[in-house]
Amino acid sequence: MTHSVPASDVPEGSVTGAGRYAVGNNGTYFAVSRRCRHLGADLAGGSIARDGCLVCPRHGATYDVTTGRMVRGPQGAFAKVPGLGAGFKALTKLLPLARGTVTEKGSTLQID
Ligand code: FES
Repeated sequence: MTHSVPASDVPEGSVTGAGRYAVGNNGTYFAVSRRCRHLGADLAGGSIARDGCLVCPRHGATYDVTTGRMVRGPQGAFAKVPGLGAGFKALTKLLPLARGTVTEKGSTLQID
């Protein structure tokens, strides 16, 4: 299914939601499935790290949006659970976030 969002809703350094995708702009537009692999927080409410990764709004897990893999596990109280972050990171090697294709159509972004 195709989703669309106005490009003006996704200025550089921001993330928003479009259907089942979190759509962001880290200098390049990207779209990934929006449920965090940790406890399912909505990644559309996340933020962009300085290195361009997508950061979960709930516990700070960080995703490489080009591969969909978690590159840093959950932080805060969860970071103190040995192996937990590593477990989720391993999971996303097998089950990375789904990635959508973003196409610019005039002032609209189309996500497939
Ligand atoms: S729900 Fe995303 S890091 Fe916990």
